[in-house]
Amino acid sequence: MVRAYIVSTGMAVPDRVLTNHDLEKIVDTSDAWIRERTGMAERHVSDENTAASDLALPASRDALRAAGISPDDLDAILVATISGDYVFPATACVLQHKLGASHAMAFDLSAACTGYIYGLSVAQAYIESGRYKNILLVGVDMLTKVVDWTDRNTCVLFGDGAGATVIQPRERGGVLDTVLGSDGSAAELLYQPCGGTRVPISHEAIDRKKHFLYMNGREIYKYAVREMVQSCHEVLKRCGKTIEDVRLIIPHQANNRILEAVAQRLGVSMDRLFINIEKYANTSAATVPIALHEALQQGRLHEGDLALLVSFGGGLTWGASLVQF
Ligand SMILES: CC(C)(COP(=O)(O)OP(=O)(O)OC[C@H]1O[C@@H](n2cnc3c(N)ncnc32)[C@H](O)[C@@H]1OP(=O)(O)O)[C@@H](O)C(=O)NCCC(=O)NCCS
Repeated sequence: MVRAYIVSTGMAVPDRVLTNHDLEKIVDTSDAWIRERTGMAERHVSDENTAASDLALPASRDALRAAGISPDDLDAILVATISGDYVFPATACVLQHKLGASHAMAFDLSAACTGYIYGLSVAQAYIESGRYKNILLVGVDMLTKVVDWTDRNTCVLFGDGAGATVIQPRERGGVLDTVLGSDGSAAELLYQPCGGTRVPISHEAIDRKKHFLYMNGREIYKYAVREMVQSCHEVLKRCGKTIEDVRLIIPHQANNRILEAVAQRLGVSMDRLFINIEKYANTSAATVPIALHEALQQGRLHEGDLALLVSFGGGLTWGASLVQF
């Protein structure tokens, strides 16, 4: 059977680093509070001239180079993002042009922090059906552009980043299976109220700060732990595997305490999870591909190893993929 294989990865973050100590000068917070509650120490923040496609581009070029293919070889470009260059058109189309990927179709996918896993399931379906052979899947977000920098509840939590992967058909290894879920009844626990057709942009909406990201952190926390654990169990069961078969869990990096709770409920020690939240904070759709890139770079995964990718985010959305390298 032909499976979707992640043949290469790449990543990019803005140069500018904002530490917890820098944040202490902006809002009423402390390095100790942020570290203890989230595990974050610093995050990368883009400047006013950098948009999502500007980060997606170098990450994608790295992944293409590592795969040994040119942009011309691409059949499809999928970009998972909720903070693209524009409301429309798709950032994937902007990226297609910048790369010069003249034969690729391109579209964006909106599943917030679960965007990469949702995208992987789409790439998986295209590859397994034989429809496409060279797919570029990118997770990119710049939530630092939509947070309220006077709100300590949210502005400390996010960073900007992009992770890119090239996905091709292989007869060994690859994505064994993916499970996905959603619950739109909780959409307003984590959302950007203004800018769509529900609350179009207006002076009044901006005066009421409706253009900023809103989050109910406590409620999200409960959902995140429950659904990430459930997704892991479900995908393992579908593949006839147990958590002991998994070499490394590559989770969405939203909060270290969420990851501790997930590890505890899965019955694994923390060293079975790849965690880089300290350096990048929550980069939304980019956390999983960035973590995967760093895990591979650090030699944490070898041929034949199973990795469990799992995420949770706005929508609400969640999902997990079991991937063999
Ligand atoms: C956001 C989060 C870190 C807050 O941690 P918490 O332990 O739940 O904290 P609470 O929201 O209960 O707030 C506790 C207190 O800390 C304060 N606080 C919030 N942010 C703070 C900050 N950056 N610095 C200092 N104090 C802060 C609150 O105002 C509150 O003060 P009060 O008790 O006087 O009202 C946590 O809820 C979380 O991580 N949730 C999940 C969010 C997430 O991952 N979202 C993305 C999903 S993809």
